Amino acid sequence: MFINILKTRFVDTPSLRECIDNVSRETCFLASNEAPSLQDLERSVRACLESDSVHLVALDGNRVVAWAQIVRAEGTSVAHRGDLGMGVLPSYRGYGLGKRILRECISAAHARGIDRVELEVRTDNRRALELYRGSGFAVESIVKMAMKIDGTYHETFRMSLNSAPMHASFPPGEDADDKRHFLNNESPG
Ligand SMILES: CC(C)(COP(=O)(O)OP(=O)(O)OC[C@H]1O[C@@H](n2cnc3c(N)ncnc32)[C@H](O)[C@@H]1OP(=O)(O)O)[C@@H](O)C(=O)NCCC(=O)NCCS
Repeated sequence: MFINILKTRFVDTPSLRECIDNVSRETCFLASNEAPSLQDLERSVRACLESDSVHLVALDGNRVVAWAQIVRAEGTSVAHRGDLGMGVLPSYRGYGLGKRILRECISAAHARGIDRVELEVRTDNRRALELYRGSGFAVESIVKMAMKIDGTYHETFRMSLNSAPMHASFPPGEDADDKRHFLNNESPG
């Protein structure tokens, strides 16, 4: 199959909405179990373009079969950070499309000065975890009670991909013990 990956255009938004709706209802892995309204989706695609974020779709003919977006954080000190969201229609999974659209999205984000890509993924979302780990993302923390679905809580991993070399977690210095103290301190309950 020949799948084209393009920057999202307004003409794609109705099909994009169907794609998001399909993945949201089928998986329970996204923040919502349904797509936003067409109006809200158009607004968020427009906001992406205006903030120099990245929004891509994969097209089979005129049909959106996958999407990936990296939304730049707001504020001058955090504008180098972006938040990733993505999905692939069930019948298009397992053919490398997720990996492909993710790679293009990250590369477009880097070209726009987004040096750090962040995401949150359910700890039982095996397929997505393998995709992210294989693409260089590392787990930074676990978020307890991150999602609540039909009364059941689910944990997520916070993961990131940093294009600039990172300092070691605890560079030698007088505040290292202080950081360790707060990191090891489990909150009560
Ligand atoms: C996660 C998702 C985007 C992956 O898309 P995809 O097109 O199936 O991914 P690919 O075919 O490119 O596979 C990428 C990697 O995922 C892993 N993978 C693929 N199928 C898998 C399976 N059945 N089980 C476990 N890992 C699998 C592999 O590591 C694969 O890399 P490899 O081919 O080099 O081994 C897709 O499953 C999806 O849309 N899921 C629902 C929405 C979702 O969870 N979004 C992310 C929310 S954080």
